[in-house]
Amino acid sequence: MKLDNFKERKKKNEMITMLTAYDYFSGQIAQQCGVDLILVGDSLGMVIKGEASTINVSLDEVVYHTKAVRKGAADTFIIADMPYMTYHLDVNTTKLNAAKLIIEGKANAVKLEGGTDSRIEAIKALIDCQIPVCGHLGLTPQSINMFGDYRLQAKVDAEQEILIQQALAIEAAGAFMLVLECIPEALGKKVSEQLSIPVIGIGAGRFTDGQVMVWHDILGMSDIAPKFVKKYVDLKQIILENVTLYVEEVNEKRFPQKENVYLPSM
Ligand code: KIV
Repeated sequence: MKLDNFKERKKKNEMITMLTAYDYFSGQIAQQCGVDLILVGDSLGMVIKGEASTINVSLDEVVYHTKAVRKGAADTFIIADMPYMTYHLDVNTTKLNAAKLIIEGKANAVKLEGGTDSRIEAIKALIDCQIPVCGHLGLTPQSINMFGDYRLQAKVDAEQEILIQQALAIEAAGAFMLVLECIPEALGKKVSEQLSIPVIGIGAGRFTDGQVMVWHDILGMSDIAPKFVKKYVDLKQIILENVTLYVEEVNEKRFPQKENVYLPSM
């Protein structure tokens, strides 16, 4: 899908689907199921590495996972997250870090969090290098040490006004898309109406132009998931039952049941 198509989809009021993926398998499934955009999120810090936050993720780790996802999803638009402190210093460092995600990871675009003046400068610098950028406002997980915990953002009028102004600045800087995380539904609707670029919600209500979810959350593979998540299946329970069965069968000498046959192609 080309960049302009996402705007077109918004104009036609057609929903846009985004899902995170972190490896060959999840990339392959996301593509086969028709996901519009894959996000190689820095949520990998939590769901893949088992960290308490997304802070401890390196650029090389996102490159590594993006490469694997690209192998499974050759034809899907991939956004790679810029990890904490890879776009906070000077714009030249930001450009080089984003270019690594595009050149080595084969991502189509990058995502970065926040809407202050320095973030706007970073977005403009990347677009100047022909790197498409997706913004991210609301509950920006890399700011966890400022927020204190993961909770609904922009509850009061003053905070909502700041978020709207930052969203407009992100669009004016040239971003092609904006993710809004964990904010009141009415604010998600308002921002989506005011922006011409697609607004993708995660815990931002029903009225954004699309939705994004974390792979492990919708498939029931996370120990704790935010309240706004819909768990479509309890995969952790299914995997637990079947790995337990395998262990039992081996211990009780019920597997293998006959002599192994190795086919020439294996
Ligand atoms: O890292 C991530 O997975 C994200 C989504 C939660 C939007 O940023």
